[in-house]
Amino acid sequence: MKKQYVLFSIIAMMLLVLAACGGNNNEESQNNTDGSNTTGDDQGEINLYTGRHYETDQALYDQFTDETGIKVNVIKGKDDELIARLEREGKASKADLLITADAGRLYRAKTQELLQPVESDTLTNNIPEKYRDPENEWFGLTKRARIIAYHKERVNPDDIQSYEDLTKDAFQDKVLIRSSSNIYNQSLLASLIALNGEPDAKTWAEGVVDNMARDPKGGDRDQAIAVAAGEGDVAVMNTYYLGKMLNAEDEEQVKAAEQLGVIFPNQDSTGTHVNISGIGLTTSSPNKDNAILFMEFLTKEQAQEQFAKANYEYPVNPNVAVADLLESWGSFKEQDLNLSKLGEFNNEAIMIMNEIGWK
Ligand SMILES: [Fe+2]
Repeated sequence: MKKQYVLFSIIAMMLLVLAACGGNNNEESQNNTDGSNTTGDDQGEINLYTGRHYETDQALYDQFTDETGIKVNVIKGKDDELIARLEREGKASKADLLITADAGRLYRAKTQELLQPVESDTLTNNIPEKYRDPENEWFGLTKRARIIAYHKERVNPDDIQSYEDLTKDAFQDKVLIRSSSNIYNQSLLASLIALNGEPDAKTWAEGVVDNMARDPKGGDRDQAIAVAAGEGDVAVMNTYYLGKMLNAEDEEQVKAAEQLGVIFPNQDSTGTHVNISGIGLTTSSPNKDNAILFMEFLTKEQAQEQFAKANYEYPVNPNVAVADLLESWGSFKEQDLNLSKLGEFNNEAIMIMNEIGWK
């Protein structure tokens, strides 16, 4: 009898503890009528610095506000400028979150101590390991591939199946690729350093420069337009730019994109280079609990679909289907690389580019 009583007491105490924990959890997502949050110093809002400029994102932020009562203050800017601003503002920054394109940039924000780690099962469950920082200081939200677009009439796709093929004699003066000052090519080269070693990567970069159709100018879309105009035959570009061109209001962009075929390079070897746009919690974040809720929200299935679709990107959450256009390009093998490597080898990539004269 006595034993049973003791057991009953233990169970009762455990239930009490559980109830107390549950109460706390409820409080976290509840906002008081004056707009303040019941935990910590959180106000009923978050401040988001973002390099994204899509109208459809606002609908998603509104939905987050409807669900949680937390207001999302959006500050838009250019990716590098937002990082510079965070650095300038330091500890006084009101920013809670940074959304920016390219793992190389997120890595840089991390090394500048602008971000802090977030331990969240939701984030680690929804985002595959390779798309997030090993120390949880940034998390991928959407994914893009760096593909080769070729002119369907002038190029036999069998001749251009890898990044290495860009350096073949057959493509002398035919390669269109943007300048080395842009992080997308720095990250591409960084991935090749990580996978093949520095000497190989340098030889590759030299071969690309040798085959350039012109001195690099413009963005990824300009390379595609130059191929359509006959300045060269193949262009290196991110998948979403092709998506944007095919859906552009400007007829010329649509016509140019329609002349191009898509190659996912290196399917028989190291895989296609992918990169992410992602999010990090700032070191100074005044509304940390709310900010983490927002991060988690963006990785859930419904948000992922909308967020990726807005920019013709692939969702990082593997449970979410890709949009029809991307589906039509087919599935592909990716480089087997944690994307933090793109940041780790960024300096080396820039040094190679400077040495070999990639303008
Ligand atoms: Fe871009």
